[in-house]
Formats: sequence, C-alpha cells, structure tokens
Amino acid sequence: MYNLNGQVAIVTGAGSGMGRAIAMRLSLEGAAIIAADLNGGEVEKAVQEMKSRGGRGLPWEIDVSIAKDVERMVKGTMENFGQIDILVNNAGIGSTGLIIDHSEEDWEKPIRVNLKGTFLCSRAVAKEMIPRKRGRIVNIASIAGKSGEEFIGAYCASKFGVLGLTQVLAKELGRHLITVNAVCPGYVWTPMWEELAQWFKDKFPALADLSPKEVFEKRVKSVTPLRRPQTSEDMASLVAFLVSDEARNITGQAINVDGGAVMH
Ligand SMILES: NC(=O)c1ccc[n+]([C@@H]2O[C@H](COP(=O)([O-])OP(=O)(O)OC[C@H]3O[C@@H](n4cnc5c(N)ncnc54)[C@H](O)[C@@H]3O)[C@@H](O)[C@H]2O)c1
Repeated sequence: MYNLNGQVAIVTGAGSGMGRAIAMRLSLEGAAIIAADLNGGEVEKAVQEMKSRGGRGLPWEIDVSIAKDVERMVKGTMENFGQIDILVNNAGIGSTGLIIDHSEEDWEKPIRVNLKGTFLCSRAVAKEMIPRKRGRIVNIASIAGKSGEEFIGAYCASKFGVLGLTQVLAKELGRHLITVNAVCPGYVWTPMWEELAQWFKDKFPALADLSPKEVFEKRVKSVTPLRRPQTSEDMASLVAFLVSDEARNITGQAINVDGGAVMH
C-alpha cells in the first residue's frame, strides 16, 4: 500500500471499467477522489461505494473533450478540496473499421475524447500543480499506442498521440517537479472490449458462433505470452505506484501491462 493521505486525485472515466478500479484504489490509499465521467449516474454510484469503504469523493459529470467542462471541473475541485495532486486521464472511447471506410467523424471522435481530452485536462490541472511544485499525471494509453492494429485505426492514432503528449508534458513539467507517465493496458474485459468483440463477431463469419467474451479470450490467447487477460486492478496497481513517492524519479515513460503482448 502507498500512503496518499491528504492528497486529491481527479480520475476521468471513473464510471466504468478501469477508471472505476483506479478511483477505488486511490481512494483506499487515502486520496480524496473527484470521480469524473460522461455518465453522471455511474460516478454517483462509484463515489457512494468509496464512501461506504471510508473514502472521500465527489462525483463530477463531464465531457472531457469540452474545454469549458474541464475548466469548471478543475475550479470545482479547487473550491471543494483546495489542491490537486494527481490526475489520471483514463476516459476513452474505441473505434472500429478500416481507415479507408472511416468518415471524418469516425476519425475525429476518438482523437477528440482520447487525445484532446487528455490535453485539456492536463493543461487545466498542470496550472494548479505548477505553483505547488508537485504533481502526478498518469495517462491511460494502450498497447495500440505502440503498435498499429488493423480495424482500430483512429483509436491507435489517438493513443500514439497520447504517448507523444506524455513525453512532451514530462519534459515541459519536469522543472516543476511534476511527473507524467503513461500506462499501456493490453486486454481487459470491460464494456469497451465487449463492444469491439461484438463488432468482430458481426464482421467475421468464423467468429459468429462465439460469444463476445469468447472472441476476446481467443484473441488474448493468440497474442499474449502469458495467455491470460489483464484486469482493471492490474492497471490500478501500477497507477498507485506511479503516483506514489516511490516513483518520484520516473517520468516520460509508457509502461505496458499486457501479459507480454508488446515488448517495446
Ligand atoms: N479495455 C481494454 O482492454 C483497454 C486496453 C487498452 C487501453 N484501454 C483504455 O483504458 C481506458 C478505460 O477503458 P475501459 O476499457 O475501462 O472502458 P469503459 O468503456 O469501461 O470506460 C470508459 C469510461 O469513459 C467514459 N467516457 C467516455 N467518453 C467520455 C468523455 N467524453 N468524457 C468523460 N468520460 C467519458 C465512459 O462513460 C466510461 O465510463 C480508455 O482510455 C481505454 O482506451 C482499455
């Protein structure tokens, strides 16, 4: 366990999957959590759960791709808690289909949420971190940000962008003693993957008889040396380490948690 008592963390996409697990883990470590998500009902529930386990938190309905929403969330956090120590940019959406079939909107949507959302939240939060000369930013990218994959092209492009932004921010914010790192998850069974597996099922007749979960498991077995999926808690463990004092000299890194699927 890492001691985050007295610290304040914003976690985006905290209503589901990994974001929810990360928010809960940081809460159990002692941080007060602003659980931000497009889905206000789900973050209400997440914060209720944190409170029932002794944590402190505030649900915040937000679209991370809208600058005004982001500024309002940061202002609200400062008014309620007076500081921001940790930002986890986790909110994200997928994409499906070949690039040659993409509409402009198919292309722009993941870029807007995954990349622009990370930019907007980091920009707004860093301005509050700089005067205090402390801060931790963790971006949830993907192994799809390190190795291009067919059928998820716009998503890949957005995550490659997140890794570039991670390095730039690490260089620009390092002098203020703020670290910026990325976690690259491999295969975690969440609503995002369920949607993708359904798309593969519909697209490829050979997969038609499998359930979406079986499509996911087949993929995991074929590409990961450890032959098992990862969990949201695996990601939460690495995030907890990266925001702790023990990781104070790690910045600008992109760490895979993927059972060995990608080795760079
Ligand atoms: N599931 C995987 O295997 C996997 C692998 C690699 C990377 N990731 C990344 O992990 C992160 C979390 O994904 P997940 O699998 O938990 O997905 P998920 O769909 O379970 O959760 C994503 C959350 O983000 C929220 N969200 C979406 N758009 C938003 C917006 N504009 N503003 C605010 N909130 C928004 C959703 O409401 C949802 O609660 C994403 O960035 C995703 O790209 C997931």
